[in-house]
Amino acid sequence: MLIGVGLGPGDPELLTLKAVDILKNSDKVYVPGRLAKDLVAPYADAEILEFPMIRDIEVLNALWKENADRIAEEARKGTVVFGLIGDPNFFSTFSHLKKVMRKHYSDVEIATVPGISSITSFAARTDVAVESSFEVSDGSEIGYKIHLKATHPKTIVKQLQAEGYNEFIFAERLFSDNELIIRKKEEIPEKGNYFSIIYGKK
Ligand SMILES: C[S@@+](CC[C@H](N)C(=O)[O-])C[C@H]1O[C@@H](n2cnc3c(N)ncnc32)[C@H](O)[C@@H]1O
Repeated sequence: MLIGVGLGPGDPELLTLKAVDILKNSDKVYVPGRLAKDLVAPYADAEILEFPMIRDIEVLNALWKENADRIAEEARKGTVVFGLIGDPNFFSTFSHLKKVMRKHYSDVEIATVPGISSITSFAARTDVAVESSFEVSDGSEIGYKIHLKATHPKTIVKQLQAEGYNEFIFAERLFSDNELIIRKKEEIPEKGNYFSIIYGKK
């Protein structure tokens, strides 16, 4: 199994209990750089996996495949962790690694443990309150929308469709015993709990 583990923004005390537990009990830990290696050092002796910024797409794909080969071999025998700064699913190397793994090694199970992202860390450190809709950008086009307070999920999906979104996920009470995740658009209900989210992708 391969687990992407969020390590938070850089403060060793901002790792989650789950992250620490998994790091302690994994068979192999990879990280993309020195900061992540230092953060996991109390729990595991991590190896830095090189993901160089190369323009030649063929060389780049070959390097990603080489890394995937190594991870797949170990993830078939035990638990491999890839630890990343912030959260593994937001603007992260882990997202591309997942794509490469799913393409070449679809038998390897992949999971994610969320981490405290730079987005929420920023608000905490600068005393900023975000109280209305906001945009997070890395300069590329907007391709996703996350709609909080999705108490009327079907209506939100209709609105998002009109804006050009065409893939949806309804998620309710995440990480609780009553968690509900619906990926089929036609199964998204009229009404949702207050603790629910609609995710839309263009
Ligand atoms: C490749 S993205 C990784 C984002 C990360 N996965 C997350 O959830 O925060 C790298 C960018 O995240 C932001 N970032 C990450 N950690 C940060 C920190 N401790 N302070 C400020 N910005 C940070 C910076 O904008 C940086 O260029």
